[in-house]
Amino acid sequence: MTTTLSTKTRVCFATLLTTDSYHHGALTLAASLRATGTAYEIICLVADGQLSRPTLERLQLSFDRVVNIPILQSSNMDNLALMGRPDLGSTVTKIGVWALTEYERIAFLDADTLVLDSIDSLLDMPPSGSEQQHSNEISIGQDIRPNGGMRNEGLLAAAPDLGWPDCFNSGVFVAKPSKTTHAQLLELLANQGSFDGGDQGLLNAYYSDWSRADHSRRLPFTYNTTSTSFYSYAPAFAQFSPAIKIVHFIGLQKPWKWHRSPDGSLHEGDVGASFSTFVEQWWKMHDKYVSLWSPDKGLYDSTIALSLNGCFENQSNNKPSEDANKLLLNTEMFDIVSSHATDNSWKRDGEYHVTDSAQDTANDSWGSFTPARDFTLE
Ligand code: GLC
Ligand code: MN
Repeated sequence: MTTTLSTKTRVCFATLLTTDSYHHGALTLAASLRATGTAYEIICLVADGQLSRPTLERLQLSFDRVVNIPILQSSNMDNLALMGRPDLGSTVTKIGVWALTEYERIAFLDADTLVLDSIDSLLDMPPSGSEQQHSNEISIGQDIRPNGGMRNEGLLAAAPDLGWPDCFNSGVFVAKPSKTTHAQLLELLANQGSFDGGDQGLLNAYYSDWSRADHSRRLPFTYNTTSTSFYSYAPAFAQFSPAIKIVHFIGLQKPWKWHRSPDGSLHEGDVGASFSTFVEQWWKMHDKYVSLWSPDKGLYDSTIALSLNGCFENQSNNKPSEDANKLLLNTEMFDIVSSHATDNSWKRDGEYHVTDSAQDTANDSWGSFTPARDFTLE
């Protein structure tokens, strides 16, 4: 199928933040998507009133749109405890994706995913006016999947979860927003709750026929390869890992929590050498576009990257200013930041939807911060 971007249909990639602590993930994910050269809009959903102002301002620099959505909280604490993740109760906020009916299609990615190769095929739509305009068909490489008549509207595709492959993993999915689906998901949450206490349990209860009803709704595992795959089936991992398009860092040990030596090298984690290659790739992306590795500061210093953004913003020739050069000389990463500076797609105009209820709490990894350009608070 050829890649056609219809001007009439609006589609986007989206992620979600309900807490400041995942902002490194969201920013690095956006960078990895841009690095694939995607033409599509990239938006960040944020839980209303939950994020600090510095985080929101930084998101606005990286995403095309930052959209406030109501925070939801699961009350199924026992189920969350069973999963060993009491922190995941607010992930049910994710069902807000279905309320965004200004989009025809949304490819959702958790903030702890990294895109390694173009995934635009998830959003490519048939040309407007063609017979297939309203089809839910998704093209995955050369594999054209027919619309097999789904029992539940609203979910176009997702990949199996390794823990229970009859369930889909809700870290990556393609949705068709729908007010009806959104209302039904809210109702299900209120009446039955979620069997895992998070969004995945809720969504799998709603789309309970996902594994059987329609093969077009099954994404290849390479669109959501989870860290656990390495030790579950190492030979398959070795065979298919070159085809991986999206890595999903599930579990507690997120890439941004790995320790690094002053030279930037990673300390051995507990996921095994093969998977740590992806953690290295995450950091490479992060260092190149989100922040600069700073030996003086220990972990990393996003504030330097931010001040550099400001320097570049005022340069008509896209070359770092003298101030930026001074900072760069200290970090020995001039080549990396130069490529950042010439990447025009990095900066795009976007909307900014933040209410005054957004907390103004200083986040220790950001420190004090001045936004690079003006924006309006709604
Ligand atoms: C799994 C999914 C994640 C979801 C969580 C809670 O970890 O990967 O996307 O938020 O379950 O349901
Ligand atoms: Mn995740």
